[in-house]
Amino acid sequence: MTALDRIEELQREAEAAVAAAADIDALEEARLRYLGRKAELPMLLRGIAALPAQERASVGSAANNARKSVEALLTARAATLAEGNLDESAIDVTLPGAPPSEVGHLHLITQTRRDIEDVFIGLGFQIAEGPEIEHVEYNFDALNFDVTHPSRARSDTFYIDDATMLRVHTSPVQVRAMIAAPPPLYVIAPGRVYRPDNDATHTPQFHQIEGLAVDDGVTLADLKGTLLAFAHAIFGEQRDILLRPHFFPFTEPSVEVDVSCFNCKAGQLRDGSRCPLCKGSGWLEVLGAGMVDPNVFAYVAEYGYDPERVTGFAFGLGIERIAMLRHGVPDLRLYFDGDVRFLRQFGAR
Ligand code: DAH
Repeated sequence: MTALDRIEELQREAEAAVAAAADIDALEEARLRYLGRKAELPMLLRGIAALPAQERASVGSAANNARKSVEALLTARAATLAEGNLDESAIDVTLPGAPPSEVGHLHLITQTRRDIEDVFIGLGFQIAEGPEIEHVEYNFDALNFDVTHPSRARSDTFYIDDATMLRVHTSPVQVRAMIAAPPPLYVIAPGRVYRPDNDATHTPQFHQIEGLAVDDGVTLADLKGTLLAFAHAIFGEQRDILLRPHFFPFTEPSVEVDVSCFNCKAGQLRDGSRCPLCKGSGWLEVLGAGMVDPNVFAYVAEYGYDPERVTGFAFGLGIERIAMLRHGVPDLRLYFDGDVRFLRQFGAR
C-alpha cells in the first residue's frame, strides 16, 4: 500500500469514527486515535523529511489535507453534540423563564393623566379626589355660579335629584379639598366628569384635572409660571403660553390659556401652508384658569380660608383634549369605542 492510499484509508476511518461518536467522550477518543501525538497521521506528517525527495510534496499535502478535514469534522461534531446536550441533561433550572408575551397596555387617557400628574407632583402638588355623584351645592353654588347660569339647566347636566348630580367638572374638588385641609394648599384633582353632549369633540363622560394653589401672596405670575412648566413638560421645552382674558364664575380674573403650536411656526407649515392643528393661529387652547374668586374662599372661610388674607390660583383642563392635541386624535369618541386598532397605536412607552 502506498503512503497516499494509507492516508486515504486513515481519513475514511477517522470520518466514520467521528460520525459514530455518540457523546463527547467518544469523540475525544476518536480525536486521540486519529490526531493524537502518537497517532499514525501526525507521525506520518512528522516523518515527511525522511521520505524520498520526489514523494515529499504529494504525501505532505495529502496528509495535511486529511488532518485538516478530520479536524473540521471533529469541531462540527462537537458542536452538534453540545446542542443535543442542552436538550437532554444540561437544563439550567435557575435560568429565568420566557418572558410573558404582552397582553395589553394602559389606555391613552390613563397614560396622559399620569404624565400630567407627574408634572404637578414634581411641582409639589398633591392629588385630591372627590365623588362623581356630587352635591349641586359644591358643583355650582360654592363655586359662585349664579342661579341663572346656563350650565344649571336640566338639558346641560345629568341630575340625580334636585340636590345631587353627576359633576360637570372637577372644580367641586376645590371646595372639598379646602374643607379637608387649611392653607397652604397645593392640590390637583383628576377624575371623570359628565355632560349631556356627544359629538366629535364632546363625549358624555370625559376626564379633567383640576388644580388649586392657595397660600399667602399667590399671584397671577405664579399661575403663569406653573402653567409654563406644565406646557414645557407636556408639549416640549420650546413652547410658550398665552393668557387670554375670559370668564369663569369661580375665578377673578379668569383666563383661557393657549400653548404655542408644536406642529408649525406661527400658524404656517414649512411649505407655507396653513397648519391644520392650530388652524393657522399658532396657538392651541389647552385650559381655563384664574385667580380664585374671594366668594369661593368666603364659602369655606370657617376652614381657614379668610378671603381677606389668602389668595390662590386655580386651573382646569380636559385630559382628552391634551391627548388629542399631542397625538392628533381627530374624534374624541375613538377613545371610548374600544377599537383595539386605534388603542394599540398608543402602546406602552
Ligand atoms: N371647570 C372649568 C370647565 O369645566 C374649567 C376651569 C376653568 C377650572 C378655570 C378652573 C378654572 O379651576 O380656574 O370648563
